[in-house]
Amino acid sequence: MGIRRTESGPAGGVGGGGGGPGADDMEQLTVAVRVRPLAPAERARGRVAEASDDKMVTLQENDGDKNDVLRQKRRHEKHFVYDLAFGEDSSQKQLYEKTTKPLIGDVLQGFNATVFAYGPTGAGKTYTMVGTVEQPGIMVRAMNDLFKYMAEKKDELEFKMSLSYLEIYNENIRDLLKPSSGTLELREDAKKGTIEVAGLSEVSTMNTKEVMKLLTKGNKERTMESTAANSTSSRSHALLMVTVRQQSRVRDIHESVKVGRLYMIDLAGSERAKRTKNQGKRLQEGAHINRSLLALGNCINALAVKGAKYVNYRDSKLTRLLKDALSGNCRTVMIAHISPAMAQREETFNTLVYADRAKNITNKVGAGLGYR
Ligand SMILES: Nc1ncnc2c1ncn2[C@@H]1O[C@H](COP(=O)(O)OP(=O)(O)OP(=O)(O)O)[C@@H](O)[C@H]1O
Ligand SMILES: [Mg+2]
Repeated sequence: MGIRRTESGPAGGVGGGGGGPGADDMEQLTVAVRVRPLAPAERARGRVAEASDDKMVTLQENDGDKNDVLRQKRRHEKHFVYDLAFGEDSSQKQLYEKTTKPLIGDVLQGFNATVFAYGPTGAGKTYTMVGTVEQPGIMVRAMNDLFKYMAEKKDELEFKMSLSYLEIYNENIRDLLKPSSGTLELREDAKKGTIEVAGLSEVSTMNTKEVMKLLTKGNKERTMESTAANSTSSRSHALLMVTVRQQSRVRDIHESVKVGRLYMIDLAGSERAKRTKNQGKRLQEGAHINRSLLALGNCINALAVKGAKYVNYRDSKLTRLLKDALSGNCRTVMIAHISPAMAQREETFNTLVYADRAKNITNKVGAGLGYR
């Protein structure tokens, strides 16, 4: 059971227990894979990866040359099984409903939850998390559901929701809603055991239209550039934090304020430097990106191992910020993204293996084989 964060309400009480992440059949760490559609320019060489059965991803081992009959005969396939697998024709709605919607209840119970998009450049992370006006992604849909719940319960409960949006670029934190603040620092409160971004703006909002406007504005501020693999490549990790504080309208001495937070993260591409022909600035950037991603991977592995005593959050800004979220008291969903195209086969394979490793460890815990 997780630890619920509470704040003393006006009556000074402390909140009651009950429930907790994992109360239903979702695991603490859920690993999902989404295959993006093949782009028109990629069609000639065919696809090498496909999702099926809602759980399986199949990767072709050969180069997919359809004219080479002998090679076709010798064709081998690799199969990977995850908690969830989404094919090329999966909708934004399906993605949201299967990965993130189940976390909304946790947040409303006063728990933290995290969903992040992982994968190489051009594989569809920003599409999943942010999306477009016509096809909004997880960030907007999650906010939408929170608003809906708040409207339904407004007679019983008093809500306050706030939103912060930041990017981590080369291990520097910038406020995407208030870029004029420059580089922000992390501040630890040793007493409370919390960490926060000093000076980060928190915007209170109560409607979806406003959220979309804020996200669009924030995304324009994101560090973006073309790489060889994606012309609108996000070079930074973007983190949207939604905090919901709620309090009963019926005042009594046991009253408390429940505080739940949902972290939604669009990570920068996980590709290796050589792939994007990176040089100079790009190469250094790649090193920083990988440092955060490596640290994140290590934390997730430790998180998935029950009883792990030591998790090193200190290795990167990303993991320091996510300490609360990754500390094992909240559910985390990782959505790994892959391209089905021949040209990205190596990155696709690496991503499938990364996701598989996270999944294996979760299974071990589930089977009672936890180790230290
Ligand atoms: N599921 C999808 N359906 C339709 N188009 C998609 C899908 N996924 C990605 N795309 C398109 O593919 C392109 C690359 O996607 P996106 O920018 O989301 O990649 P990314 O993983 O965020 O890459 P980077 O790490 O470089 O930021 C975009 O033009 C996007 O609209
Ligand atoms: Mg992106």
